[in-house]
Amino acid sequence: MVRKLAAGNWKMNGMSSDLIEVDTLVAAMDPSGCKVLLCPPATLIRQMWEHAIGSELLIGAQDCDSNDSGAHTGDISAAMLADAGASHVIVGHSERRAAHSESDAVVRAKTIAAHQRGLTAIVCVGETDVERDQGQALEVVKSQLLGSLPETCISDQIVIAYEPVWAIGTGRIPTSEQIAEMHAVIRETLTYRFGSVGTKIPLLYGGSVKPDNAATIFAISDVDGALVGGASLKATDFIQIIKVLNAMI
Ligand code: PGA
Repeated sequence: MVRKLAAGNWKMNGMSSDLIEVDTLVAAMDPSGCKVLLCPPATLIRQMWEHAIGSELLIGAQDCDSNDSGAHTGDISAAMLADAGASHVIVGHSERRAAHSESDAVVRAKTIAAHQRGLTAIVCVGETDVERDQGQALEVVKSQLLGSLPETCISDQIVIAYEPVWAIGTGRIPTSEQIAEMHAVIRETLTYRFGSVGTKIPLLYGGSVKPDNAATIFAISDVDGALVGGASLKATDFIQIIKVLNAMI
């Protein structure tokens, strides 16, 4: 059984005054439920971690550099994120692949850097609308996976987030059949790469997950949780999504 995970990605949102949302989330944590993770901007990691002390809420980051230290102005290493309290780091989010020209090879180097510092890497993959319309979605995601993943891993070092680019922040989501088909291909690819470890890697769906569509998404086979953007900013919305996931356990 893969332990379910609800992960929130705050993107470039959040000030110290928003930490009240973390307190609300902590108060609603169910120790017998799914794992819950929040990935704030780097400026809030430490403070969020402090607000989460004594609870099971996990804190993560949204990106890391592939280098461990040195002359990389503006970048943050996996070692620094771990030092700040992060247990996870998102790598290869489509917004970074697009805005920072991150290739699969770069994402792979970041994944390896994360592992070296004991962080679980949430590796994001997903096709554009043009790629889906041209019938290339499955091939694109498979090739992103093979290029972005290291040669070896142990199961709790990697989480995969399937996030169709056209579903992020748009309110559009794929059909249940499309998500099921993609997650099956991802599972097959992970098993090809990692053997039995590949059967235990959590597969998240991401892209416009909201309280009102969570039940439909979580009912799909091989969906082990979600990577939630906009709906993770307000604790009340995120808690509703978490409760739907917990009801599946
Ligand atoms: P969204 O973002 O839930 O706001 O669509 C998801 C993501 O980009 O991780």
